[in-house]
Amino acid sequence: MFENKTILTGVKPTGTPHLGNYVGAIRPAIRLGHEALAHGGRHYMFIADYHAINAEKDPEVLNQKIKEIACIYLAGGLDPSKSVFYRQSDIPEIHEITTILYAYTPKGLMNKSHAYKASVDKNREAGKPDDDGINMGLYTYPTLMAADILTFNTDIVPVGRDQVQHVEIARDIAGAFNAHYQKELLKLPTYYLEENVAVVPGIDGRKMSKSYGNVIPVFADDSVIKKAVFSVKTDSRPMEEPKNPDEILVYEIYKSVAAPEKAKEMADGLSQGKLGYGHIKNMLLDAILSEIKDAREKYNYYMAHYNEVEEMLAAGAAKARPTAQETLKRLKDTVFGR
Ligand code: ADP
Ligand code: TRP
Repeated sequence: MFENKTILTGVKPTGTPHLGNYVGAIRPAIRLGHEALAHGGRHYMFIADYHAINAEKDPEVLNQKIKEIACIYLAGGLDPSKSVFYRQSDIPEIHEITTILYAYTPKGLMNKSHAYKASVDKNREAGKPDDDGINMGLYTYPTLMAADILTFNTDIVPVGRDQVQHVEIARDIAGAFNAHYQKELLKLPTYYLEENVAVVPGIDGRKMSKSYGNVIPVFADDSVIKKAVFSVKTDSRPMEEPKNPDEILVYEIYKSVAAPEKAKEMADGLSQGKLGYGHIKNMLLDAILSEIKDAREKYNYYMAHYNEVEEMLAAGAAKARPTAQETLKRLKDTVFGR
């Protein structure tokens, strides 16, 4: 399905990624990129830093998060000599394109955007006015996201469930633009939702999420990861009691990091009453540490040699801009009748 296609993914530099983000979003995105490249396609991967300023106002914190996310993608196997790896803020054309797209973005569409609606709902719950603390960046961000996508003639945007609506908005805006000028000026993107990426549960059994504070960090010291793994909820049943593995949280998390045959070993040990909770927590810890060993080493290297990453990002922007300039010219020529 990626034959000769352009795949584009953006990641917001917010929060330090946890195991759920890593196995559920970061690694699958890199894998899809590799697949597209192997089939004659193109892969764009960028850091959505302009999206982050809507929420993060401390420049030092923001800078640190941008660094972390760049290093995490490189650690996860992104190859900047093959993928186009850049910062959104290095491509000024995206913002001119956003302004053009505003003229084709119905305000009602923004009212319906999940991110905005979720903030309004939060305000209502807290008894505050609907738009309290909501800035125009958050309100209009689906249009900026549409520009991120449409600028590069994207065919496919791999997303998590929460981002599907935003890709549909990008498609709607592109459709409205093309319909007005009776010409296919913008490529209509589609989203790609990977159904077989499991949701990784957190240490309390709910979905692992930074907003629940139930995460197992990935790019942290062993001792921090160990502490999180040993806090995974268990009950007080003795080892000898046969257990249904599907009811054991440690096993559920283990499945997302261990090879299938290893997961089966744990399942068999649990159902035969041969493995206790201490044992399976150690198995989980070992699986996580071995799974991320190389990535953590690379991550630490790039964090310590960030000037190399800066060079990669600058080279990525230089690769990306000619296409952005072409798209901008096409749109400007059209809207101004040049
Ligand atoms: P969080 O819930 O921690 O705030 P985000 O909403 O920022 O995470 O999600 C970033 C990406 O990571 C999304 O693509 C999302 O689908 C993925 N993701 C988040 N949590 C999990 C999880 N527990 N299991 C699998 N994927 C996840
Ligand atoms: N909105 C996405 C998120 O919150 C990040 C993002 C910005 C993005 N622009 C994009 C994702 C373009 C895919 C394509 O995670």
